[in-house]
Amino acid sequence: MAKFTHHHNHRHSPWKKLALVALLASFVGAILIADSFYASSSSSSPAYLSLASNWARQKPEIVVLPNVPPYREEAEKKLEETEQKKGPHRARILSDTFADIPAPDWQWEELPAAPVPRLDGAAIQIKNLLYVFAGFGTLDWVHSHVDVFNFTDNTWSDKFDMPKDMANSHLGMASDGRYIYAISGQYGPQCRGPVSHTFVLDTKTKEWSKMPPLPAPRYAPATQLWRGRLHVMGGSRENRHTPGVDHWSLAVKDGKPLEREWRTEVPIPRGGPHRSCIVVDDRLFVIGGQEGDFMAKPGSPIFKCSRRHEVVYGDVYMLDKEMKWTTLPPMPKPNSHIEFSWVIVNNSIIITGGTTEKHPETNRMMLVGEVFQFHLDTMKWSVIGKLPYRIKTAIAGFWDGYLYFTSGQRDRGPDNPQPKKVVGDMWRTKLSL
Ligand SMILES: *[C@@H]1O[C@H](CO)[C@@H](O)[C@H](O)[C@H]1NC(C)=O
Ligand SMILES: *[C@@H]1O[C@H](CO)[C@@H](O)[C@H](O)[C@H]1NC(C)=O
Repeated sequence: MAKFTHHHNHRHSPWKKLALVALLASFVGAILIADSFYASSSSSSPAYLSLASNWARQKPEIVVLPNVPPYREEAEKKLEETEQKKGPHRARILSDTFADIPAPDWQWEELPAAPVPRLDGAAIQIKNLLYVFAGFGTLDWVHSHVDVFNFTDNTWSDKFDMPKDMANSHLGMASDGRYIYAISGQYGPQCRGPVSHTFVLDTKTKEWSKMPPLPAPRYAPATQLWRGRLHVMGGSRENRHTPGVDHWSLAVKDGKPLEREWRTEVPIPRGGPHRSCIVVDDRLFVIGGQEGDFMAKPGSPIFKCSRRHEVVYGDVYMLDKEMKWTTLPPMPKPNSHIEFSWVIVNNSIIITGGTTEKHPETNRMMLVGEVFQFHLDTMKWSVIGKLPYRIKTAIAGFWDGYLYFTSGQRDRGPDNPQPKKVVGDMWRTKLSL
């Protein structure tokens, strides 16, 4: 495949090469079946015990460029300088772990695992309780209940049902500290269609109510409660693959809609699912994500998932009260599947794990095992630590000085960042920023 070696036209060739990689990848991607989306959780993979092993040994060599100026220009310049330094005849052998960013090892403590393994679930933390919703147990088995973890005694202390017609994965979700709003998402297993159904849960009474449906269904839209309105934006469109850029909002108060219909808002600059969406200090942030996703195989009666071309990005967008989008510095690497992988601690956003750009030679999906911090005072990113393994759609929480994460799909081992087992494991580490 494309080798990043000597070239004649220095000024343009990095772009030609990247374009070639992207083109090849899109062909290969289009014919790959869902080999890395889910690997049987029953297959015996030895438990990965060596938590302190320094699994990130190499600096990333392939740079996936942010889509937005001025960060794109900066990244282009940096890439060109690196190319020049390396000289013309450099051979390239790209290890599977090339995208891991070196980071400090952290000591992690394993706590009781969730009652079920869970991929693409949703979650909200309210004080010392973590409500974990829905998700795939396997690609053919989806959950329709809520598991609750109590951070005070570190136990899974409660379990209750979701409405039967609520989506089972790829939900948008936000909370005001009592009511939890659950928006749209995928209904059923494999790569089935989405529903626009929208619900609200009163966590005090554990009662569910219906809300006005989203104008169109979306997979994994960025969702937050901000200035009295529920905002839903991006996600994937009805075919699961095409990025949506629509942005809708609905006035809500104490678990009740104040309007009958969703209002159309300023579209998000870049569409797609699986992003972190966070409100802090009266600003709304949308972080990372991807364009494209697995789709149902045409004609498949079980809507069998098949892999399509995806572009993962690390873009960061901020919406201020004038409803204008600002572009902020991108994540240290492209990152997706982080919709419930974040917490806010000490005026910073902490993000755990995710998925990054596929391997440029093998085309395999690659998971992320770093913990990132976005400093809200300086708007700068840093990589602050490592998880015990790489994992996507991890669910994060923060309580009493500890960073927690549970669930998701983990890697195949320290040297293999491809996705494998869907887990319900729960871990925590003392955070010191
Ligand atoms: C959480 O655990 C603490 C300590 O055991 C207990 O006092 C509290 O009632 C629990 N909360 C819930 C909602 O179960
Ligand atoms: C947050 O900041 C406070 C005050 O500086 C500090 O005591 C605390 O340890 C910090 N929290 C973490 C998790 O680092």
